[in-house]
Amino acid sequence: MIFVTGGAGFIGGNFILDWLAESDEPVLNLDALTYAGNPETLSTVADDPRYVFVQGDICERELLDGLLAKYRPRAIVHFAAESHVDRSIHGPGDFVRTNVEGSFALLEAARVYWNTLGEAERASFRFHHVSTDEVYGSLQAEDAPFAETNPYLPNSPYAASKAASDHLARAWFHTYGLPVLTTNCSNNYGPYQFPEKLIPLTIVNALAGEALPVYGDGLNVRDWLYVGDHCRAIRAVLAHGRPGETYNIGGGCEKPNIDIVRAICGLLDRLCPDAGGRYERLITFIADRPGHDRRYAMDARKIERELGWRPAESFESGLRKTVQWYLANPKWVANVQSGAYRAWIDRQYGGAAA
Ligand code: NAD
Ligand code: DAU
Repeated sequence: MIFVTGGAGFIGGNFILDWLAESDEPVLNLDALTYAGNPETLSTVADDPRYVFVQGDICERELLDGLLAKYRPRAIVHFAAESHVDRSIHGPGDFVRTNVEGSFALLEAARVYWNTLGEAERASFRFHHVSTDEVYGSLQAEDAPFAETNPYLPNSPYAASKAASDHLARAWFHTYGLPVLTTNCSNNYGPYQFPEKLIPLTIVNALAGEALPVYGDGLNVRDWLYVGDHCRAIRAVLAHGRPGETYNIGGGCEKPNIDIVRAICGLLDRLCPDAGGRYERLITFIADRPGHDRRYAMDARKIERELGWRPAESFESGLRKTVQWYLANPKWVANVQSGAYRAWIDRQYGGAAA
C-alpha cells in the first residue's frame, strides 16, 4: 500500500479519490483533522476495504513508527502541512511545528523503516515530498519563470517552513540515501478546497452576497493548476521520477488576482444569477497582505520532458467545473463553515468581507 499524510485536506483528498479510482492499491491516510481536514471529502471511500484512515499527528514519532511497521507501505506521499499564507502571518508557530518538525519526524521514521527493508524493497521505496512554488520567492514582471535550479528565497512564514522541509528532504536523500522525490507546485484550485483560499472564498462569499476581498491593487500574479492535474503529476513522479530530483509542476496559466475574481463573478452571473445585480458589485479592495509576493510563474519543462506530464484542464474548463462543484455541494461548504471558520474570517477581514 501507499501511506498518505494529510489526505483529508484539499489536495490529499483529491489525490486519494483519484488514486482509488485508478488503482487497486490500498491507501493508508494519516491526518490530524485540523480545521483544514474534512473526512466528509472521503465519504465515498470510507467503507472501501482499500482505504484505511488514522486520525493522528505527523509530529508523533511513535505513531509513525507503529503505522510503518504495521502497514509496511512501499511509498509515502507527504501532503500534511499548514498551508494558508495568511494564517502563517498571524500564527507562524503551527507552521514550524507541522511543516518543519512534522516533516523531520516523518523523514526519520521513514529512514528507520526503510533500513529494515530487503534490498529490492529498499530500491523501489519512495518518499514523495509535496511542496510549493512559494519557496522560490517573488518574480518581477519581466523575470523568467522559476526553474528547479532557482535559489530558495522564501518570503512568508509558510514559504520558509516549506523551504525548510524541502531542505530536510534533500538532505535525507544525500546523506542517508532515502529515495526522496520532491515536487514544487503552483496554486491549485478545484473541488473540496477550504474556503479560506482565493477561489473558493470568492465563490462562497459571492453566493452569500458578501464582499469579495481583493488584497492591494489586485495585480499580484499566480500560476493556476486544476487539482486533478496536480494529482496526476504526483502519480507520474511517484511512478517514474528519479530519486533525489525535484520537479516543478505548473499550469502555464499566469493570472492577476482581480482577473480570477472577475472570471468567477462572470461564471456565477451565468450559472446562478443574483436578483441583486452582477456579482462584480461585491468586489472590495482591502489592505494588502504583509510581504505579499508579486508574481509566481513556473517553468515545468523538466516534468514534461522527462515524464511526459502536462496539464489536461484549461483554466476556463477547470474554473467552470470548480464553480459547478461548489454550487452542487452546499452541504460540504456549510459543514466546513463552522464557528472556527467565522472566527478566522472576522479576524482576517474584520468587517471588510463580512
Ligand atoms: P490543506 O490545508 O487543505 O490540507 C492539509 C491537511 O493536512 C489537512 O487535512 C490537515 O488536517 C492535515 N494536517 C495538518 N497538520 C497536520 C499534522 N500535524 N499531522 C497530520 N495531518 C495534519 O492543504 P492543501 O492545500 O491540500 O496542501 C497539501 C500540500 O500541498 C501541502 O504540503 C501544501 O504545502 C502543498 N501545496 C499546496 C498548494 C495549493 O495551492 N493548495 C500548492 C502547492 C503545494
Ligand atoms: O503557490 C502555491 C501556494 O498557493 C500554496 O503553496 C499554498 O498552500 C496555497 O495556499 C496558495 O498560496 P497563495 O497565498 O497564493 O493562495 P491564496 O488563495 O491565499 O491567495 C491567492 C492570491 O490571492 C494571493 O496573491 C493573495 C490573494 N488574495 C487571497 C485571499 C485569501 C486576495 O486578494 N484576497 C483574499 O481574500
